[in-house]
Amino acid sequence: HHDAVTHARQHLTQVVAHRGASEDAPEHTLAAYRKAIEDGADALECDVRLTADGHLVCVHDRRVNRTSNGRGAVSAMELSDLAALDFGAWKTRGSAAGRMEEPDWEHRPEDREATSVLTLERLLELVADAGRRVELAIETKHPTRWAGQVEERLLLLLKRFGLDAPASPEESPVRVMSFSARSLHRVRAAAPTLPTVYLMQFVSPRLRDGRLPTGVRIAGPSIRIVRSHPGYIERLKQNGHQVHVWTVNDPRDVDLCLGLGVDAIITNRPRAVLDQLGR
Ligand code: G3P
Ligand code: CA
Repeated sequence: HHDAVTHARQHLTQVVAHRGASEDAPEHTLAAYRKAIEDGADALECDVRLTADGHLVCVHDRRVNRTSNGRGAVSAMELSDLAALDFGAWKTRGSAAGRMEEPDWEHRPEDREATSVLTLERLLELVADAGRRVELAIETKHPTRWAGQVEERLLLLLKRFGLDAPASPEESPVRVMSFSARSLHRVRAAAPTLPTVYLMQFVSPRLRDGRLPTGVRIAGPSIRIVRSHPGYIERLKQNGHQVHVWTVNDPRDVDLCLGLGVDAIITNRPRAVLDQLGR
């Protein structure tokens, strides 16, 4: 019986490419997302921030210093400032943060777009042109400077792609994730059928009983929570929540997640996880 369950899970568990195929290619670039789609990822994860002139761009940190050849806060820069930067070279230089073990991705300076700043709009186009269903897990970062505006822009953009009003959350190819319950609340107020994911770094006492903030369907615990509180994951499942775990790169953690029946594994190495799942 256990084998049958495990086998079923291997096919039910979604593999989500965290920041794209970010182990192989520079995170949040078109290069990384193209690779993730090639690798067979079921979904792509990205973080979004607003530029000073109101564009949503896919950048994790508050500043561009770590992942580009520029300096400064995304929220203080215009899209044209960001477009002048290279978001790929740091990965080939082999910095401590992003050392490449297998050079699966080759930095080609002539392919400017592959390592330019990635707008969410361009990522939505990439997904639309993928030729198969590729889901998108969009994380709103929540700089106080732009309270409310990130969600507003996000929903406008999703609307343009016909993605803001799925018939039901189950059918939606897009979901919105955040560590901020307020951010998710704003999304649901404007787009009630869009699924939301509440991200958790630690289990707060308020959440121990396996309930999530009102209206949230999906829990997004860190792998550290899964390792230290597997019973909490079971409680979430019993309460009818889906569980999407980040960031799962170790094969033993993949096994742990499968054993607990998690619904999505968010990983920097989608190809390796799919291999482990026999897919
Ligand atoms: O997928 C959620 C995960 O990405 C949250 O943490 O810091 O990588 O955005 P972070
Ligand atoms: Ca993220």
